[in-house]
Amino acid sequence: MDSRNDAPIGVFDSGLGGLTVAREIMRNLPDEKIVYFGDTARVPYGSKSKQTVQRYSRQIVRFLKTQEVKAIVIACNTATASATDVVEEEAEVPVIGVIDPGAKVACENTSGGRVGVIATKATIESGAYVEAIRKIRPDVSVIGKACPLLCPLVEEGWLHDRITEEVLMRYLDDLMRRDIDTLILGCTHYPLLRNTIRRLIGDEITLVNPAYETARELKALLNDRHLEAQGPVNPDDPMPYRFFVSDDARRFAEFANSILPIDVKTARLVRIDEY
Ligand code: DGL
Repeated sequence: MDSRNDAPIGVFDSGLGGLTVAREIMRNLPDEKIVYFGDTARVPYGSKSKQTVQRYSRQIVRFLKTQEVKAIVIACNTATASATDVVEEEAEVPVIGVIDPGAKVACENTSGGRVGVIATKATIESGAYVEAIRKIRPDVSVIGKACPLLCPLVEEGWLHDRITEEVLMRYLDDLMRRDIDTLILGCTHYPLLRNTIRRLIGDEITLVNPAYETARELKALLNDRHLEAQGPVNPDDPMPYRFFVSDDARRFAEFANSILPIDVKTARLVRIDEY
């Protein structure tokens, strides 16, 4: 074991959504430190081109490398779908995305072989979920639905709002009419709408949040590569969890505080386009 074991995990997203993945990492790997980057200046990624998401992701990886991370979690489906190869090429440390873990859980849980995926336009158009699911279970039908309005509503903090509910209903209606038995929350922002989604779809459909499985796979990956932290986070370490954003750090810290099991005092601003 060397000092790499004590290095943090780098986690990134276009904004707040990746906090749902960071939350699972905190719960399941409590000894690990985290450096989180949210690209709040350039969110949403889901309506941008593949080239743009690749360029943004490359810059973020370069920033995370300055923080000496030992592994990178792409806590964003859109970046996983569009930029995993670019991230792997740039990272020089192990990389894990959220799509394969989500696909795996859906394949294990589907009762009738009809899996719905709600995600950004970029994720749906990439076909990444269809590919990941077919690799595991070619017999499963995948019905994708792009939901471009959801990420901005979550970033706005409208988690329990009538308008968000109406927008969701419009999107989900289509999937429910096509008889899905399992629904993947294919954007890391959507677990924040989980309760409303559950209410709208009823109890029969299995909901898959890829964040849980991503945290488990991260654990296995660290174990395989002998990269796990060697003991609990030092109680004297003032910042086992560090947060960086490209805009509006105060608002981010407030939001992070409301969804993470820790007290987030500050987030620091990074000029990400300089990386
Ligand atoms: N949370 C991200 C995802 O999982 C991106 C949402 C966006 O920026 O459009 O796809």
